Amino acid sequence: MHGDPAAAGPRGGEEGSRRSGGGAGGRGCSSRHDLRVAPRLDPSDVPRYGWRTFMPRHISRYVQTTAGGERTRHFTARQPPGILKLDSGDPYFPTPRHIREAAQDALDAGLTRYAPGQGDPEFLAAVCETVEREAGAHYSPDDVVATNGATSAIYAVFTAFLDPGDEVIVLDPTFSLYALVARQLGAVPVAVPHGGDYHIDVEAVRAAVTPRTRLIMVNNPNNPTGVVYRRDELQALANLCAERDLLLVADEAYEKILQPGCVHVPLLSLHEYRDRLILIHTFSKTYAMTGWRLGYVVAPSDLAGLLFGVHRAIAGPITTFVQRAGAAALRGSQDCVAEMRDEYGRRGGLMHRLALDVPGLRPVEPQGGFYLYCRYDLALSASEVRQRLWDAGVAVRSGTEFGAAGKGHLRFSYSVDEPTIEKGMAIMAEVFRHLSRTLALLLPLVLLAGCGGEEAPKKPAVSANLCVYLPNGMTLGPYDTQKECATARENMPRGECKPCQK
Ligand SMILES: Cc1ncc(COP(=O)(O)O)c(C=O)c1O
Repeated sequence: MHGDPAAAGPRGGEEGSRRSGGGAGGRGCSSRHDLRVAPRLDPSDVPRYGWRTFMPRHISRYVQTTAGGERTRHFTARQPPGILKLDSGDPYFPTPRHIREAAQDALDAGLTRYAPGQGDPEFLAAVCETVEREAGAHYSPDDVVATNGATSAIYAVFTAFLDPGDEVIVLDPTFSLYALVARQLGAVPVAVPHGGDYHIDVEAVRAAVTPRTRLIMVNNPNNPTGVVYRRDELQALANLCAERDLLLVADEAYEKILQPGCVHVPLLSLHEYRDRLILIHTFSKTYAMTGWRLGYVVAPSDLAGLLFGVHRAIAGPITTFVQRAGAAALRGSQDCVAEMRDEYGRRGGLMHRLALDVPGLRPVEPQGGFYLYCRYDLALSASEVRQRLWDAGVAVRSGTEFGAAGKGHLRFSYSVDEPTIEKGMAIMAEVFRHLSRTLALLLPLVLLAGCGGEEAPKKPAVSANLCVYLPNGMTLGPYDTQKECATARENMPRGECKPCQK
């Protein structure tokens, strides 16, 4: 047993490192770097209270459990040159000129020192004006915190309001960062599948609330489904939050990227629930500013104050010339946003039409964001299909990266140019044709193998006429005997044997 880590304090670590440094070569230096040579020492000389001792019991164990997820693997995989990037979350467009110029002007004016902690006054004022204009809600600069994109905003919100063991409800599928951050903090993401139409199943959310639930996280428009939630479903969630004293947090990263005729309902327009609403926003997608790392949180000032306290520790103040660029984006002409939206509209329409022609692919009609979410009819996991497409030169994201409900789904991005969409979808059609043929040929072999190599049973005179219905919507069969059907189902454990409905 080791002593109380808190009691050891930094001094314990320092003493240890001094000893390590001496033992490793007599450099006699007490810097932290000396710890790196600890493995070469006699084990009895390893510092009793060094980081190696703490690590297994420290918060970093949560980090370890999230370090190798599908999202992380996707980002660390080296993409071969020439791969068609239908996996991208990066807008195709450059940052509009007037926004770049505002940053340049701020640089020229020497705005290169620490910004005020919660945000540059110009920036905070621009955010308040925007919220007033778009959600009809009055907020003051005290209610706003400038952040490093939505990413650090999500981290700040979860850190401020979730203790280890607390639960956060996330809709499934959704942007995977929410679950990842919750797990890193030792909190529990509770995934609630959407309804069949990919909208919010409010009753399922209600059933998932427990005494440990602290907040409900919504991403509207949703990444990856591209669905934009209606006012009634948001209102129902807000009602539930009021009943159970929860916070309702919305990440509206894609609110301005809408397909023709689609309307986005801002969270902050649910005025009567103001006390429990937190908006997370980013400039990354709307203004093609992914690399600038700028976003903000809006919340009632008592919550915003807490968020500022946390965010300051995560990231410090946000670069002033970047905030000036953000203020120019919000206050300047929104024509650039409309142009990008129209272009995404065309590309989304093109990708949707091409996807309808891919055998075995059933695209969800996109409403917002720049992703096409597709269900597929193949008896392969989403990550296997993703890998086959990768091998054929098209990078896409598997639905399961966004939650268990993403089984049998893929996400394609149309934030790329039209030739890339056309080439990518043509390759996809080929891969799907090939996979359907191969799997159809293999199926009898799989079934035979399932019979343990015995001679196939003789067909009875009367057909049982059963099918295996798979959760991804695919149907196997019909089979002539119950045994055949049961064997097929054994190979597809999540399938159900039911009378053929063909
Ligand atoms: C829904 C959603 N929220 C937040 C982010 C991250 O945004 P940022 O670049 O501002 O950190 C993304 C990025 O893909 C996203 O899809």
